[in-house]
Amino acid sequence: MKIVSVVGARPNLMKIAPLMKAFARRPQIQSLLVHTGQHYDPNMSDLFFRQLGIPEPDINLQVGSASHAVQTAEIMKAFEPILEEHRPDAILVVGDVNSTIACSLVASKLGITVIHVEAGLRSFDRGMPEEINRVLTDSISDLLFCTERSGVENLKREGVDPSKIHLVGNVMIDTLKEHQSAAEKSEILSDLGLVDERYAVVTMHRPSNVDDATILGGVLQVLEVVGRELSIVFPAHPRTRQKLNEFGLADRFARLPNLCELEPVGYLDFLKLMSGATVVLTDSGGVQEETTILGVPCLTLRENTERPITVELGSNQLVGTDPETITDAFHQIMRGGRPPSQIPPLWDGGAAERIADILVSQL
Ligand code: UD1
Ligand code: UDP
Repeated sequence: MKIVSVVGARPNLMKIAPLMKAFARRPQIQSLLVHTGQHYDPNMSDLFFRQLGIPEPDINLQVGSASHAVQTAEIMKAFEPILEEHRPDAILVVGDVNSTIACSLVASKLGITVIHVEAGLRSFDRGMPEEINRVLTDSISDLLFCTERSGVENLKREGVDPSKIHLVGNVMIDTLKEHQSAAEKSEILSDLGLVDERYAVVTMHRPSNVDDATILGGVLQVLEVVGRELSIVFPAHPRTRQKLNEFGLADRFARLPNLCELEPVGYLDFLKLMSGATVVLTDSGGVQEETTILGVPCLTLRENTERPITVELGSNQLVGTDPETITDAFHQIMRGGRPPSQIPPLWDGGAAERIADILVSQL
């Protein structure tokens, strides 16, 4: 059975890594890896291949950055001849980025089975580009692997045949568990002079936050408060850095008290940073899941989440983007320590193995 797997953006890499290993262990699966090139900076792509032991992509479409329509179209144009040449039995896509929908659409039109890993997540916010990608990808997928019960329920409500849906757990957590002890050895804390310091980790990149000067300014206002109590470690996503410059907020950002300003860091360093943080402030999807496993308080700067289990069971709290609400939630964490956090069902490090077993038995 020949499977073409697709990656494009940073969070795809943590998800594909354990699947590549599970496929390599099964002689029934012939695996090819395609990188669309949606993310291309070394610290948004290559670094993760090395750290997570992902095999070099067999093909790189090198599409780079563009508007949604152009990027999606370029991926489709470049991916179609690859499928025509290799004629796989199935393609596998992960997550909710433009590469996910672009490649699924090409495959489904060619009559090739589409496997979606991390299916069914819904924020119910159609203003979010990822929500459009999720809904469309799921609607043309033939096998849908879910990380949490809400995903299964969402798909059934949308009329997906239950026999296509499998609750298997979370491949991103497979990667976290595999690399936890290596991350312990990261020297990022001493490099940043944070060995005995308490600190907050901050990541932001959602267009609804960083493409809006008022919201981005409001987050800086929050960080001005946070920085009086904790060091702030902020590895800035390229979109965020661009927007800080464009909105004339770069100086205010650089003057935040106790700021450790960084370029995006590698997975092992970031895992080490999250593990030791007093609090994480983020709008990332993956970071909400990782802090749940680590039991680290996470303030999600969004009005909704497609990963509700991280709020129901985990240490995640949705705090929106109003500076006062975020600051109040921050002070509560500073007073109260770590909230109780449970591990969601099947987030045990075995998701990729379960997926590979199902693929071998069903395809
Ligand atoms: C994309 C995904 C988002 C995901 C995020 C993970 C879509 C619609 N969005 O958002 O779901 O959460 O990746 O990080 O697919 N850039 C660089 N170097 C790079 C990549 C991007 O400088 O290696 C800059 C470019 O100026 C680009 C901008 O960042 O225009 C945004 O990149 P893009 O991939 O379009 O969207 P992200 O915001 O990264
Ligand atoms: N991450 C990283 N370095 C960083 C920031 C994040 O390795 O500087 C990791 C993080 O641990 C998680 C993934 O990147 O595994 C999340 O990706 P991102 O926030 O870009 O995308 P999202 O999950 O929001 O789609």
